[in-house]
Amino acid sequence: FEHGVLNGKRVFITAGPTREALDPVRYISNHSSGKMGYALAEAALDAGASVKLISGPVTLTPPARAECVAVESAEQMLAAALDGIDCCDLFIAAAAVADYRPVDVAEHKIKKGSEEIMELRLVKNPDIVATVAGLAEMRPYTIGFAAETRDVIDYARSKLARKGLDLIIANDVSNPDIGFNSDDNAVTLVSADAEVSLPQASKRRLARQLITQIAALYSRTDSS
Ligand code: C5P
Repeated sequence: FEHGVLNGKRVFITAGPTREALDPVRYISNHSSGKMGYALAEAALDAGASVKLISGPVTLTPPARAECVAVESAEQMLAAALDGIDCCDLFIAAAAVADYRPVDVAEHKIKKGSEEIMELRLVKNPDIVATVAGLAEMRPYTIGFAAETRDVIDYARSKLARKGLDLIIANDVSNPDIGFNSDDNAVTLVSADAEVSLPQASKRRLARQLITQIAALYSRTDSS
């Protein structure tokens, strides 16, 4: 791991889950721990970058040297991601964004009714990383994650194209030893013309290897 490979670079990282409110006391969310995003923030700082960490609700302590923006919903995460994006060199989307949110957020606590079945209407959330990748001007080098259970590389490659990303980090979440909520991960970086596999390691160690690889791939495109 080389210190300084991201000297002078501005990096935005999304991390953790989002929470989509149903009413003042309830929400839809997921089990993302935020560990991978926070480890990447730490590694990017150690590599010399200035980091904005945009995080959904997690129990982790953010690195002291990062600028931290705490958000709850996907819409708030998108707004925080676009704020200052013109100064962003690399955008890393490690957050587990809820795909859908409730159509209506009740102003008051929803009361239990007499019906056995209760239906929720949901609407698709904005795709944050695809929005950033689709920016017409001042578009950062944009990196996403793909958690898959089978045909990992093929799905990652199609997600790379569909979202217009520069790089996608694929991990196989069918293996309980790695991925969601676990301390370890193993990934493959997939870009249009490169494929690099990093074997199972702690998220901290893997984050440092990832930042090294990301900096190398990014430097091939960076003209500044
Ligand atoms: O489509 P899928 O959720 O599998 O894509 C995962 C990648 O897209 C991750 O990098 C995640 O952070 C990002 N994403 C996003 N906004 C969404 C959904 C996913 O930025 N609404």
